[in-house]
Amino acid sequence: FAGGALLLPIALQRRGYSLNAGSPQPTPFQVNLPIPPILKPVRSDANTDYYEIKMQKSRVNILPGLTTEVWAYQGMVPGPTIVQTLGRKSVVRFINHIDVSTSIHLHGMASQPQYDGYPEDLILPGYYKDYHYPNNRAAMLWYHDHAVHTTARNVYMGLAGMYVVQDPAEAALKLPQGKYDVPLIIQDKLFASNGSLVFNDDNHHGLMGDVILVNGAPFPRMAVSARKYRFRVVNGSNSRAYKLALSNKADLIAIASDGGLLAKPEPTKELIIGMAERYEFVIDFSAYPIGTQIVLQNLGLPNNTDYDLTGQIMRFDVVSREADDSTVPTTLRDLKLNKQPSRVIERRWTFDHRSEMWVINGNTWDKNRIDADPGAGGTEIWNFQNNSREWFHPVHVHLVDFQILSRDGKPPFPYERGWKDTVYLGENNNIRVLAKFDEERQGKYIIHCHNLVHEDHDMMTQYQIGTTGIDPMSAPAKPLPA
Ligand code: C2O
Ligand code: CU
Repeated sequence: FAGGALLLPIALQRRGYSLNAGSPQPTPFQVNLPIPPILKPVRSDANTDYYEIKMQKSRVNILPGLTTEVWAYQGMVPGPTIVQTLGRKSVVRFINHIDVSTSIHLHGMASQPQYDGYPEDLILPGYYKDYHYPNNRAAMLWYHDHAVHTTARNVYMGLAGMYVVQDPAEAALKLPQGKYDVPLIIQDKLFASNGSLVFNDDNHHGLMGDVILVNGAPFPRMAVSARKYRFRVVNGSNSRAYKLALSNKADLIAIASDGGLLAKPEPTKELIIGMAERYEFVIDFSAYPIGTQIVLQNLGLPNNTDYDLTGQIMRFDVVSREADDSTVPTTLRDLKLNKQPSRVIERRWTFDHRSEMWVINGNTWDKNRIDADPGAGGTEIWNFQNNSREWFHPVHVHLVDFQILSRDGKPPFPYERGWKDTVYLGENNNIRVLAKFDEERQGKYIIHCHNLVHEDHDMMTQYQIGTTGIDPMSAPAKPLPA
């Protein structure tokens, strides 16, 4: 059968139609949007909170009348949310009760190399590892698996959760908070008729699902009051990017990107979110009569067409009126963006497809090769070039928050003009970013495409800040006591 697939034209080979019948389709907007529970620390001291998360297999109900085996943090998909205060430290013990090796990356955290989820630094089944996090940026992050060559499957099976670092000073802005501050993790999945997850990476091209989960529920609905809400969105899909829009063409008022608040609100009708990117926006429902229904839509992007989706993600149902003292101030923060030094090193990174492998500057992953050596405390321009024509690549650089200087020679999208750690590198795009490399975090860090199937095969490399720094393998997982 594989031989037959080779005879198909490329465009058809890249589509999953011949391989998958498609998932049993749930009726949209039947399930209420779940909010993942906030994880309580197992203990706390003056400046640190200690958490424990078990990785385990469990069976959950996602589609009506069917159960699905997942690999999950604390047995739930997504995992529990950690909410931490800026400047307090966290130590999270991840315990592996699954029969595959794992590694945990807290995406967006400025972790030291040995706690950054280095792909080769595996937690074997029956082992655990304590990860230390400084929480020195207020932003919406997410934790997910990062095991070498198996990240796509591990994340797809459920190993992902949200992590919010909150700055108490932000309360003064009076943005919607408490229950009006809502995390949304969007993931597409493909199910067999018995409810089990189908992992089909289409010859390492991508893994496209035809059921969109938000916070683990298929096409959910959320009952809202006629007031403002803040939504913190992470695209936790393996290979699908979304162009978000509201069905009534109202504004999404973008207020934050990967690295936290923007300088000012940026109202937009459409917002592209690649895999692993985070955007936060306010939706103001105050003008709508009770009974109004507004769908959060995916307008679609090139090369995301493997399934003919209806374009629906979830629905907001206005069900009540409520007083609203929240605001969206015209200034959110002073971004203090990096100054571009007069002489600055510019490095070029090309993303391409060669001999059935995804490559960066022509190379596949090699833990013994370092592809850039920015000086500690240095500032550089990194130029990302996509040469793989029919594919986009969300490019993620571990450790640094960068700013986008240009997108194909033009200014970045307004909502991208804040701190970013992942950038949507579309077909044939050229993107330049400015990054400053932290003196206090010397050592090796990863760069990769966040299409997790591309990452595994093998669009990943590393850079090293400073001459040696901390070895990412220097704090190995330990066996659980018998
Ligand atoms: Cu979100 Cu290296 O990953
Ligand atoms: Cu890619």
